Amino acid sequence: MEKNRAQWGSKIGFILAAAGSAVGLGNIWKFPGRAYEGGGGCFLLIYLGMVVLLGAPLMLSELSVGRASQTNIVGTFRKLGHPCFSWVGWMGVTGAFIITCYYSHVGGWVLRYVVGYAAEAPKIYGDSLGYFYEMLGLHADGAASFPWLTLLFAGIFMAVNAVVIIRGVESGIEKFNKVGMPALFILLLVLLTRAVTLEGAKPGIEYMVSLDWSKVTFDTFLAALGQAFYSLSIGMAIMITYGSYLPRTENIARNTGLICAMDTLVAVLAGFIVVPAVFATLGAEQIGKGGGFAFVSLAKVFQQMPGGTFFGVLFYLLLLFAALTSCMSLVEGIVAFLTEHFAWPRKATTIAVCAAMFAIGCLYTCSQAAYPIKGVWFDAANGVSFPAFCDAMEFLTDRIMIPVCALGSCLFVGWVWKPEKAVAEIEQNGVRFALAKVYTVIIKYVAPVAILTILVMSFATGMTLS
Ligand code: PFF
Repeated sequence: MEKNRAQWGSKIGFILAAAGSAVGLGNIWKFPGRAYEGGGGCFLLIYLGMVVLLGAPLMLSELSVGRASQTNIVGTFRKLGHPCFSWVGWMGVTGAFIITCYYSHVGGWVLRYVVGYAAEAPKIYGDSLGYFYEMLGLHADGAASFPWLTLLFAGIFMAVNAVVIIRGVESGIEKFNKVGMPALFILLLVLLTRAVTLEGAKPGIEYMVSLDWSKVTFDTFLAALGQAFYSLSIGMAIMITYGSYLPRTENIARNTGLICAMDTLVAVLAGFIVVPAVFATLGAEQIGKGGGFAFVSLAKVFQQMPGGTFFGVLFYLLLLFAALTSCMSLVEGIVAFLTEHFAWPRKATTIAVCAAMFAIGCLYTCSQAAYPIKGVWFDAANGVSFPAFCDAMEFLTDRIMIPVCALGSCLFVGWVWKPEKAVAEIEQNGVRFALAKVYTVIIKYVAPVAILTILVMSFATGMTLS
């Protein structure tokens, strides 16, 4: 163990922090819409398969690599294997940086909606789409204005992250998660009770357990795999950083199981909240409409639900906790790298990096609706295109950087560092890892082939992000 390196103060602290990283906007905002589009019960089964078969082995690999190296994500690849693999770490930090730029802004929108529901719910109910666009600086008459208020909320969201990260691993991240995660579970249970007891919720519940395989296509498998990686915070090397703060006494195999189970449970519960609630209040055709869905369609749900405004505030608070704990894991991954690699001071680095990410994120918010800022993109089906800057950012991370970094981690553990070393790391302190053989086959063969398939298919079929 290197001296002076931060460590988690307790077992539960680590598990909650890692689960806090995994449970985020991906679970509560993206998952329900994906589950609906993928045929309800069928998607749930496919998703569970992806988590068990690919997600958990990859998370276990990242945690064991991190704990073995006890260093940041770039240093890890240098220290344990071959310096030529440090590109995986660089891609991880760069991806984490880009994700944080927009994740923090969506976090700001969520904060704005917490305040919006508490202070001016009738305005949201009156014109939910108009309210959403106005938040982004586009007014009903088509005029655009600088969305300074929304940017202020994003700034506050980012500042909270910075304060927690400056406080450090144990007294910042761990303490926050120890309160935030139980709060999130309580809010989730309250909302679940409300949603499933709504009149008309039954068809939604039935849909979520129905097995209609006619809706399942190859794309459903791709969507489930991409969603599983994103949701488990895999492929950004964040779990490598969190693993590096783990003492050797921890059973990482069991911890991986717990973190994956918690993350999946939250996603499934969110599905059983949102889908039945939308069925009860709106009708099935309104669900699964991508980004604006959590902000626009759900307004009608809360409008029609008894006690809806109160539950609206609760829902966005839930989303806010989830987003905060995920965002801080991203910032920690970046700050840990910068402070260790360049020996920069933690406080100044955190402030500078958060300010930079906030500034770039302003382009993300502004390019949503108010300003036509363009990015550039290429895929085999559509050639060169110029999507909105915000979409280009998400394509780059979700479709390329996460899978490429995950692939790099698999190849590294499977073929460079070798699965035997990972198993030896897992089996410290008398732990017996019964699935060692299965794990070895997955990490060497199954996972790289599956990830490569996503990458190739994403390019070949054109990129549509929902
Ligand atoms: N897992 C988070 C979510 O589901 O929202 C997002 C995320 C956090 C992705 C951290 C990647 C990461 F490294």
